Amino acid sequence: MIEIWTEKYRPNTLKDVVGQSNITKTLISFVNKKSLPHLMFSGPAGVGKTTSAMCIAKDLWGESWKSNFYETNASDERGINVIRDKIKQYAKIKPLGSDFKIIFLDECDALTRDAQQALRRIMEQYTNTTRFILSCNYSSNVIPPIQSRCAVFRFKKTQDKDIQKHIKSIAEKEQLEIDNDAVGLIGEISDGDIRSAINLLQCASVDGKKITKNTISSISGTLMHDEVKDIVNYALQKDFIKARKMLMNQMIEKGVSGLEIIKAINRYIWTIDIAEELKIKIVILLGEFEFRIAEGGREDIQIEAFLANLADLK
Ligand SMILES: Nc1ncnc2c1ncn2[C@@H]1O[C@H](COP(=O)(O)OP(=O)(O)O)[C@@H](O)[C@H]1O
Ligand SMILES: [Mg+2]
Repeated sequence: MIEIWTEKYRPNTLKDVVGQSNITKTLISFVNKKSLPHLMFSGPAGVGKTTSAMCIAKDLWGESWKSNFYETNASDERGINVIRDKIKQYAKIKPLGSDFKIIFLDECDALTRDAQQALRRIMEQYTNTTRFILSCNYSSNVIPPIQSRCAVFRFKKTQDKDIQKHIKSIAEKEQLEIDNDAVGLIGEISDGDIRSAINLLQCASVDGKKITKNTISSISGTLMHDEVKDIVNYALQKDFIKARKMLMNQMIEKGVSGLEIIKAINRYIWTIDIAEELKIKIVILLGEFEFRIAEGGREDIQIEAFLANLADLK
């Protein structure tokens, strides 16, 4: 069975979390005191939010961490039922050998407002035995009463030098031959996202040859191509819902940035056989949305709007 390196190299203790030292310092002090407020981790994908939540539990409870750590993802079930059923059930469970247990709720910004209100009530009601760790991409999508009940930690994109160091250390453990240039390009492409940096390295290692800058650029080129292809094709076939779903998967799960998607779509449309007139319209759209993102428009909203425009073209 193939081992996934992002899992294999996921840190098991807060000390080993890369590049978020201000945050981990505070989290370690919570662990040392064995006391934890509700926490909210916001920030981009692949920078250590889920990992840090797990590390808190591992550092607190060692081997048996799983018996006091409940994890659920809000993005699949955004509605109030997930809160009423699952979360409330978890909240009622007694902690084992500790004053409290942890409920980790990933992507809590995907919850509807009603669901967030319900969550807020559970946070109040079970605060004696339960600590919530909420993770989200944008804290602005979470209702203020929840934010104010949490200590909020804003995770940053990982610095290039930290990513490169991490990639080098994994390459060494896997006994890979890799150029410095290639490591540099991985840092550049992954744009602060450690998960995608590690995935890129694992992809590049498959054929067992020495990894060069060329290996990395060809892999990342084809990856983007295939994924962007479906998004564009669904949008052009007017299946906006499907296109949007794949897009969200790219942006949130894999941490591909809005600008990268725009660039990749730009490359892609010159390789397909569609009417020149349509190509021109798409290029105009791409330029417009590239500008909006560069000017500070929210990437997810802008890209979604771009897709809607694409689906609307005749
Ligand atoms: N700060 C970090 N230090 C070390 N590894 C990391 C870090 N952030 C992400 N990773 C790697 O990427 C994977 C996904 O990270 P995760 O914590 O799930 O990211 P997210 O911020 O999206 O929750 C981890 O399993 C780990 O291999
Ligand atoms: Mg996560």
